Amino acid sequence: MRLTIDSDTRLLVLTGAGVSAESGVPTFRDANGLWENHPIEQVATPEGFRADPGLVWRFYSERRRKAKTVHPNPGHHALVDVETRMGDRFLLVTQNVDGLHRRAGSERLVEMHGSLFETRCFHCEREPFADDSEHGPGDVPACDLCAAKGRRGLLRPAIVWFGEMLDPFVMQRIARFIEDARRAAGRFAFLAVGTSGLVYPAAGLVREARAAGAEAWLANLEAPDNRGAFQHFAQGPSGKVLPELFEFV
Ligand code: OAD
Repeated sequence: MRLTIDSDTRLLVLTGAGVSAESGVPTFRDANGLWENHPIEQVATPEGFRADPGLVWRFYSERRRKAKTVHPNPGHHALVDVETRMGDRFLLVTQNVDGLHRRAGSERLVEMHGSLFETRCFHCEREPFADDSEHGPGDVPACDLCAAKGRRGLLRPAIVWFGEMLDPFVMQRIARFIEDARRAAGRFAFLAVGTSGLVYPAAGLVREARAAGAEAWLANLEAPDNRGAFQHFAQGPSGKVLPELFEFV
């Protein structure tokens, strides 16, 4: 089964934790996944941060530390090759915060859930900034911009937590790509890779793309609950499936 790409095809790719599994990054909902061992409400909500910022920093610091030691796998590299051939007819949207797509070389990339390697302020509106420092209980970093105004502001990882809005610019960029594909004459394909399809708005992209005329492909280790939303299913580990999936004609 090959996803055929010609000189007019547009391709929107959505990736999830499964694409990084073969790099050694744990997924969220598989056996022994992150959400099996860490209560979401404690480490991935604004309420959890308010209650215990040190615990939240320890959780993301461990993930930062781990993410620094891993490397992109053949699945990440296959998506870079496709982008190189397609240029602006390609967009990669990832739910992953591990930075592996960027390190592999992906450029037309939207990190919709933020980045492990950026920090922002929990209290003020300053822009997220690059940061790989690690913290824990008793060592929660403070915002220098808040301090300069005589306020106490705590820094936090620049990750989108449950109950938080996604960056509107991110959603606009995806919507614009889908709209351009809808208007264009050529084929439009949507491909989801390594995602359980349970977290919105990412999980809704397949229906939005199909409403714009896309043919929907799924590459996943197992059939997720939303398998029925896709016309084609390439089952297997993404590090093996992706390098063999695309056919340029
Ligand atoms: P999940 O852990 O929910 O799903 C991972 C999916 O990848 C599952 O369907 C697995 O079967 C599949 N999978 C595992 N190994 C694979 C491999 N080697 N190749 C291909 N597929 C594989 O992760 P996500 O769908 O990414 O959000 O989770 C979505 C969001 O929920 C995350 O971004 C995170 C989480 O809460 C935030 O933290 C904001």
